[in-house]
Amino acid sequence: MKKTVAVIGAGTMGSGIALCAAQHGFKVILLESNQAVLDKAIENIRLNLSQLVGKGKITGEQQTEILLNLTITTATNDCRADLLIEAIIEKMDAKVNLFKELAAINNPESIFASNTSSLSINELQEHLPNPERVAGLHFFNPAQLMKLVEVVQGEQTHAAVVDSLLEFCRHLGKTPVICKDSPGFIVNRVARHYYLEAMKLVELKIASFENVDEIMEASGFRMGPFKLMDLIGMDINLAVSTSLYDAFHQTPRFKPSPLQIAKVKAGELGRKSGKGFYEYNVQ
Ligand SMILES: NC(=O)c1ccc[n+]([C@@H]2O[C@H](COP(=O)([O-])OP(=O)(O)OC[C@H]3O[C@@H](n4cnc5c(N)ncnc54)[C@H](O)[C@@H]3O)[C@@H](O)[C@H]2O)c1
Repeated sequence: MKKTVAVIGAGTMGSGIALCAAQHGFKVILLESNQAVLDKAIENIRLNLSQLVGKGKITGEQQTEILLNLTITTATNDCRADLLIEAIIEKMDAKVNLFKELAAINNPESIFASNTSSLSINELQEHLPNPERVAGLHFFNPAQLMKLVEVVQGEQTHAAVVDSLLEFCRHLGKTPVICKDSPGFIVNRVARHYYLEAMKLVELKIASFENVDEIMEASGFRMGPFKLMDLIGMDINLAVSTSLYDAFHQTPRFKPSPLQIAKVKAGELGRKSGKGFYEYNVQ
């Protein structure tokens, strides 16, 4: 069982993955290049744990233990672990450069897992040493709460690495699902149309985004597509749309929406920036 976990990127996903692993007894190193984001992430983690204490779900001692499991840093050199999970920007070259840097300072037995939503694990493997130790580990947002994790097996991923990741997910209380590398894996491929068709309805002025959300929630979806896009982050969601569009040779059914492109250009990224389709209070 992998004991030390490094999580790289303390944004929306990385902070949730780090919290979840620390809550389940792993020693976690959380690396983030932006000090302000790191400060915010640790503040949110503390707040999250205090709320759990307030609700009686964990004790004060457990809160202290969880926080002691967590080390934060802005230095890549501090990132030596059995399992390294990256949750940085959705760009192949950034992920390759990061993993190359980390491979140079880590044990060849360490596992490198990417939380990518849409980039190819096979392609990532082509650029890295020890490709058999590289896989996808796709958590869902918010990572500390959502049960599903897609364990993505690239062409070169060793079966023992997949087993180790499945075991890690089960230790986190998650429901892991194995998936072969393919654009969007399972959920993002199926869910793409939930977002794209919803945006088409708004672009064509068939319905307002509030009405689309309302009706989808009333029909049983936990979150309407626009609330969900705000939670995910418009930039991340656009990157996934673009990646699937390219992977499927620009087939119109995966074409990114002008609405999401405009939102990203305007810096209206969703909850994390205080405004997306809806407005949010951010301190
Ligand atoms: N947002 C979602 O709902 C969601 C869900 C599942 C998977 N993902 C995937 O997770 C990854 C991260 O998404 P996010 O929404 O958390 O992004 P985010 O923009 O909220 O956070 C990314 C963080 O990584 C940091 N970073 C960038 N390069 C770095 C480096 N070299 N070293 C250390 N830190 C670095 C950035 O400063 C930023 O804070 C992406 O690959 C995305 O596709 C996102």
